[in-house]
Amino acid sequence: MTDEISVSLGDRSYQLLIGVNTLGCLPAKLAEINFPKRIALITNEKVDPLYADQVCTSLLGNGFSPIKIIIGDGEEYKNLTTLEQIYNQLIANNFDRGSGLLAIGGGVVGDIAGFAAATFLRGIPFVQVPTTLLAQVDSSVGGKTAVNHSLGKNLIGAFYQPRLVLIDVATLETLEPREVSAGLAEVVKYGIINDYDFFCWLEGNVDKLVSRDIPSLITAVKRSCQIKANIVEIDEKEGSIRAFLNYGHTFGHAIEALTKYGQWKHGEAVSIGMVVAAKISHSLDLCSAADVSRITDLLARLALPVTPPDYSLHDYVAAMQRDKKVKEGTLTLILNQGIGKVMLKQVPDIASVFSTILTA
Ligand code: NAD
Ligand code: GLY
Repeated sequence: MTDEISVSLGDRSYQLLIGVNTLGCLPAKLAEINFPKRIALITNEKVDPLYADQVCTSLLGNGFSPIKIIIGDGEEYKNLTTLEQIYNQLIANNFDRGSGLLAIGGGVVGDIAGFAAATFLRGIPFVQVPTTLLAQVDSSVGGKTAVNHSLGKNLIGAFYQPRLVLIDVATLETLEPREVSAGLAEVVKYGIINDYDFFCWLEGNVDKLVSRDIPSLITAVKRSCQIKANIVEIDEKEGSIRAFLNYGHTFGHAIEALTKYGQWKHGEAVSIGMVVAAKISHSLDLCSAADVSRITDLLARLALPVTPPDYSLHDYVAAMQRDKKVKEGTLTLILNQGIGKVMLKQVPDIASVFSTILTA
């Protein structure tokens, strides 16, 4: 059975299809949305033999004319050099405005393929087939696309919605355990920012989630996607409540930057960032000490880190000041009010807010 969630954005609306062994349905689903027959399937060297090659064969056998573009595996390939290689292959293969792009892989593949689709010939149709938990619950939904610049992450990008997101939870079977936990960090985020009952459900289903029980994963992916879709429908371009999705991310991005994007996975850094955000919320009387403990315990039980790596307050503040969310020196923090609700708070003096948490 496949569940469907709509992302309603007028003429840019699309469906998220969520199920098990859904990859085989892709040709039929592409035909339903009149997706171009000429397709560049963008993947990486790890996902190609696992899933992309079979998708390419099934497209070929169902009236499509695919080519494959295989990029390197890792965040270090999400850059302008790889993007140029993608454009080169599209041009060399005579891709035109009647062609489409299909991303099959994790968030790195989805972000760069999405940005290629947004910019090639001023925009060609694009479909996401996310194969990591993080990509299934977050990066494939909502139309943020980007590549990194040597001076910062995701600095060059566009909002560009896919025409379809096809999620096959069976692909998570081959993920490294650490990648499953990293995706679960973003799942916990949805509970904290929007849904107390979902947070409680996560607390009661840790073992099943970590052991990749399929019905539990489906529940987690569906609820996460529904919450993200609801938010994106109200605020597609992050003028207001879409910022809630960045809960824990400012500090998480600082950890990623300080550790040069090598040591911690995005979801792991966000896990630590959420604990820091919860502690700041408690210091401002927005949530109880018990709420902080519940958030910390859930993340730790999901095999996620909860303690900031040992950098000075000065280093953390400098890294946070370079964040995209800092405007005219003022940082907007996302803080939790209990569990299940968040608010925005402007922080002109970043150091004083973080000093008690980081030295405690
Ligand atoms: P990733 O794309 O690097 O994938 C993690 C690893 O899993 C890679 O080695 C990948 O090859 C491998 N992999 C993918 N699918 C697999 C499978 N089914 N089986 C085995 N291995 C598999 O990392 P990620 O965590 O998916 O995504 C992180 C990226 O997403 C970052 O660049 C981040 O900036 C971006 N992101 C974007 C958004 C957005 O809204 N666009 C949101 C969150 C994160
Ligand atoms: N991952 C944050 C967002 O999509 O807005």
